[in-house]
Amino acid sequence: MEPSGPARIVLAGVVPPADGGAIRVVADGTPVAVFNRGGTLYAIGARCPHVGGPLDQGTVTGHRVRCPWHGSVFDLETGAVVTGPAETPVPAYRVRVEGDGLVLEPRTS
Ligand code: FES
Repeated sequence: MEPSGPARIVLAGVVPPADGGAIRVVADGTPVAVFNRGGTLYAIGARCPHVGGPLDQGTVTGHRVRCPWHGSVFDLETGAVVTGPAETPVPAYRVRVEGDGLVLEPRTS
């Protein structure tokens, strides 16, 4: 039996984005944007905390994504705000392919 716990979110049947792409999924009721940067997957909350812009549709540069609505920039690894107007971070997750889907684990730091 695989390890499980409240922090582990299994998204069966979800195909990861292609390199350079992003998808939006819902994990435990929370919209999450999953990005593929050079084969490495990143996952952060998809809803910009400013006024709800879709971060999965943002512009990615390096390990940062720019909200398409007003330009807040977030770190893909930590969810931290790099540039406002947003003032609060988004949740960040460790993400990996497992079986036929994805597994997300909230980052605690
Ligand atoms: S909604 Fe993202 S910066 Fe305004």
